[in-house]
Amino acid sequence: MKAVILAGGTGSRLKPLTSWTNKHLLPIGNYPMICYGVAKLREAGIRELVIVTTRSALGGFSQVLGSGLEWGVSIIYRVQEEAGGIAQALELARPLMKPGEKFAVLLGDNLFEDSLASYFKQFENQDGGAMVLVKKVDDPTRYGVPTFSAPPEKIAYIREKPERPESNYCVIGLYFYDDRVFHIIDGVKPSRRGELEITDVNNAYALAGKLEFCELRGWWTDAGTFDSMEEAGIKLKGTLP
Ligand code: DAU
Repeated sequence: MKAVILAGGTGSRLKPLTSWTNKHLLPIGNYPMICYGVAKLREAGIRELVIVTTRSALGGFSQVLGSGLEWGVSIIYRVQEEAGGIAQALELARPLMKPGEKFAVLLGDNLFEDSLASYFKQFENQDGGAMVLVKKVDDPTRYGVPTFSAPPEKIAYIREKPERPESNYCVIGLYFYDDRVFHIIDGVKPSRRGELEITDVNNAYALAGKLEFCELRGWWTDAGTFDSMEEAGIKLKGTLP
């Protein structure tokens, strides 16, 4: 299976650092943030990566990761010219996927402690559709928040950063899709903040009864704020060779 790492965006919550560099090149422990996602995907058996990033960050990414050779993966880069949302960034990987191909999407600021291999295996055995991972969090208002239907439990819908969350779970930034995802993105309209939201894509799968979910085990963070970046640095220091 291939994976797409999304590493564009503006990193507005990490300004002023992100006025000079891309968020995913900032240090976590001894390595730039992007390295942790690459290493986790490699460890889960992924060998082909697409990395979507900004034009100005391309030089930095090529310095850190190059072709991927030293990391045991092969990398193709795509440029997101403007931060138009996660679904818009994902759409840039479309020409690199074959019809019928299933793949994973990792948000480059999502960092994990445990192996991701079992989730990849689970989706490989899934008959099409999409799969997301959920986790209980203290402050769901920062995330996409799922509402679950009655047993057999499914995600009925997801609300992006709700003021009054309907559960204390969040949808984390590792998604699994079949090739219908690009057709779904074609129909997604910009949200109030002017972005093509990944939550709208996931809701289209949910509405069609094609969205499965797993609860993530182990520590995870979205290192998009100074506090979470600091926590990740302490947790992950020394975990890469
Ligand atoms: O971390 C999990 C959360 O990630 C989910 O619970 C939310 O549903 C999802 O919308 C997302 O929320 P964030 O507000 O944290 O997303 P953010 O804008 O920080 O972007 C997440 C990653 O996606 C980041 O590593 C950069 C990349 N990205 C983002 C945008 C908006 C792009 O590559 N291009 C973009 O245009």
